[in-house]
Amino acid sequence: MCGIVGYIGKSQAAPILLDGLSKLEYRGYDSAGIAVYDGEHIRGQKSIGRLKALSELTHDGATMPGTAGIGHTRWATHGAPSNENAHPHFNEDETIAVVHNGIIENYLKLKKKLAEKEYHFVSDTDTEVVAHLLDYYYKGNPIEAITKVMHRVEGSYALGIMFREHPGIVYAVRKDSPLIVGHGKDGNLIASDVPAVLKYTRNVYFIQNEEIAVLSEDSITFYNVDGEEIQKESSAIDWDINAAEKAGYEHFMLKEMYEQPKTVRDTLNPRIRDGAVVIEELGMTDEEISQIRKIHIVACGSAYHTGVTAKYVFEGMARIPVEVDLASEFRYRNPILQEQDLVIIISQSGETADSLAALREAKRKGVKTLGIVNVVGSSIAREADKVMYTWAGPEIAVATTKAYSAQLVAEYLLAIKFAQVRGEITETEVRAYLKDLQKLPEQIEMLLSNKERIQHFANRYVSARDVFFVGRGIDYAISMEGSLKLKEISYIHSEAYAAGELKHGTISLIEEGTLVAAVLTQEDLYKKTISNIVELTSRGAFVLAVTNAGNTEIEKAADYVIYIPQTNRWFTNSLAIIPLQLFSYYVSVGRGCDVDKPRNLAKSVTVE
Ligand code: G6P
Repeated sequence: MCGIVGYIGKSQAAPILLDGLSKLEYRGYDSAGIAVYDGEHIRGQKSIGRLKALSELTHDGATMPGTAGIGHTRWATHGAPSNENAHPHFNEDETIAVVHNGIIENYLKLKKKLAEKEYHFVSDTDTEVVAHLLDYYYKGNPIEAITKVMHRVEGSYALGIMFREHPGIVYAVRKDSPLIVGHGKDGNLIASDVPAVLKYTRNVYFIQNEEIAVLSEDSITFYNVDGEEIQKESSAIDWDINAAEKAGYEHFMLKEMYEQPKTVRDTLNPRIRDGAVVIEELGMTDEEISQIRKIHIVACGSAYHTGVTAKYVFEGMARIPVEVDLASEFRYRNPILQEQDLVIIISQSGETADSLAALREAKRKGVKTLGIVNVVGSSIAREADKVMYTWAGPEIAVATTKAYSAQLVAEYLLAIKFAQVRGEITETEVRAYLKDLQKLPEQIEMLLSNKERIQHFANRYVSARDVFFVGRGIDYAISMEGSLKLKEISYIHSEAYAAGELKHGTISLIEEGTLVAAVLTQEDLYKKTISNIVELTSRGAFVLAVTNAGNTEIEKAADYVIYIPQTNRWFTNSLAIIPLQLFSYYVSVGRGCDVDKPRNLAKSVTVE
């Protein structure tokens, strides 16, 4: 959701800005722009649509000479996608340029005040207010102007700023919207995410809330909101640069699906020792684990779906009551939290605005919080009392696959740990569970190797109008994710339903040939779901069943069957989701959709 890049150094800035922005395309955007200081003026260029249009407009940056600049990909919030609303935004005499991620919540009030002081606005954005406000406060000292603006604006922001009077410097500041600084060999960079700077450096600083970074060609200085200099430690990024590249795959999503065996292995292995689960980062004593009264799982999107699965696992295996909430609901429903509760926030990016707000709400109420997070150093990782990382590496495709799989296994590990400490399962059972978990990567590989069959099937459904996903228990959670994957990348309407609930309305939508994907991995529920399948096929539905190897009885009821290898009943999601991911992927490809960057969606939803 919006991307920021800034560069100051010995090289030409524009090509670096365009390259950096291309690494942030996955975040979702509908227009782009850059501003470069050309030795006399700060010149801007903007374009709606894809970044390619901006590259063409500027001849890959060649028409914008200069060694300092800022760039932006905008995902429209305030005002439609247009050249006027695209960033950078300027003050009236174009001596200050600003790029912004986040939302300035009091922008209307500020805009009114600035208008009274004869400031004129050319866009509908909240960001333009920042450019004029900087102008208003600027009396020769940029840090002073920036801190004054920070005191006036409410909401979230990551800002890249340039002042014509200070041409050798790029300023950056953030609050509740991610921003990093990269320390490169021939210059320094700012960016909303690590992939944008990886080509130039692996040495980064994570800017924290209300910190200001001042970058020149050969120095980086940090200040707090009071304008006092502060010291910060840099971190070395150990990702392989290929992790942020497609590496020969047609799409990031396909590549990331194929990375799932590794992701699952990397998330599991460091936490399994001598037949036991060791989660050092949990920092909870056995006594504390035994005393947990209730677990609240809070997340958005696919992360929420892993939470729904985890509810079944925690309750079934560890006998701990679990509530699962969408973060956007949890934060406003004044949840009842008690001292011995544990709030688990699940987030790939660690920056999702609602999940972060939910975490803060839990902390405000004095409850222990645990983040299950993929991005190291992200806001949720920093603010949660404890953090358990999923080792999925950078995920670029908007539709999550490998981070989802990593979240699932992190949650299984926690459930096993809690169940054992609370005496709900024996050591022998733990060993058996762990054995099954360790088989998952190979089983996922096997399912992926069967992709042609699913591709073939998907090709028949590229023109589907509606698709339904049904299941019971964990199979319902799997259905929710299967349905989300399909609709987000193929734009086909789809819904997930608890199979037993179909008769209360949804079945009226079934017509001759409607595709229904039925998930049946829970042995004790097979027969129940098979009855629902029969109800569906007798009304004309075409049923694709995803079920465990050996459940051949299904072939009498379903039209097309995909078998998943045997695993423990709690872990079936990790396998059943693979064919559903592949199905969505191939339908999306078949329809010619933008698989990695579906319309209207953003990878990291940093606004409410
Ligand atoms: C967006 C992404 C989803 C993701 C959700 C939550 O909608 O497109 O793939 O599941 O945000 O993101 P998080 O980073 O908190 O897991």
